[in-house]
Amino acid sequence: MQPLANVTPLKPAARAGSIAVRNVGQIFRTSTQDVEALSDVSLEVKPGRFVVLVGPSGCGKSTLLMMMAGLRQQTSGTILINDAPIPQPDPDRVGVVFQEPSLFPWLTAEENVEFPLALRGVAKSERRTKAEDALKLVGLEGFGKRHPHELSGGMKQRVSIARGMVQDPPVLLMDEPFAALDEQTRMTMGDELLRIWAATAKTVVFVTHSLTEAVYLADEVVVMSARPGAVGDAAARRVDSRVVSPLAVLDDYRGLERRRRVWPRTGRDPL
Ligand SMILES: Nc1ncnc2c1ncn2[C@@H]1O[C@H](COP(=O)(O)OP(=O)(O)O)[C@@H](O)[C@H]1O
Ligand SMILES: [Mg+2]
Repeated sequence: MQPLANVTPLKPAARAGSIAVRNVGQIFRTSTQDVEALSDVSLEVKPGRFVVLVGPSGCGKSTLLMMMAGLRQQTSGTILINDAPIPQPDPDRVGVVFQEPSLFPWLTAEENVEFPLALRGVAKSERRTKAEDALKLVGLEGFGKRHPHELSGGMKQRVSIARGMVQDPPVLLMDEPFAALDEQTRMTMGDELLRIWAATAKTVVFVTHSLTEAVYLADEVVVMSARPGAVGDAAARRVDSRVVSPLAVLDDYRGLERRRRVWPRTGRDPL
């Protein structure tokens, strides 16, 4: 992933964030029972990596992502983003993109992207400039004045990505962001995301239940699975933070494909 000596990346690699998840567990206490969603999960993500978290529905992917985002606290263990705990959401360190675009319908694309900045009291002119930059990055220059109902599904998801990136966080977490899109738009958005990743040197953790999407996008695939025989309530879950062997073969092929797609446009070698 090192850029070649004669190529200047658009952002220095030092901007990328690191993630450490150590022996993390999550137990949901409901009125009727305790649900152990995650048990003893450990995972290291190095700065600048594009890690795809894949696993069946209900295995705890969203829960893990929410904890990395500071939106939920783990029951046990430690999570560090850039070597510091994340007790609450911190948009300077972590941007989040959810499955549904979840835009405010009464705000324009631009205003939606500005929203997290407005919450933090950033001045109007600075907000506008940053929102315009973020919209440009996701290929929506000139669409800022449109309302969500005037945008396609893919465009709305781009606005969400722009909103997740508007504060230029070193870590971007994405929870099945393309799940609601048709296959062709997913592929285009995947390419677009790789372009953005290559251009900004961010660390990305991308959740999906699609193996195809995982193989297409990932630097590294992390497979989450239910332990054998632990289906149902109080199921313990585990992360194998390695590329599993059948995917490793495909990964080589995919890596070459991605080099072909990303390298000429950005000058940053994605491998
Ligand atoms: N707020 C909650 N209260 C109780 N159980 C929950 C809650 N959120 C998630 N769970 C349970 O935790 C497990 C993991 O959920 P989730 O992280 O959403 O899985 P995934 O994103 O992989 O589909 C599931 O069994 C789910 O039912
Ligand atoms: Mg989920």
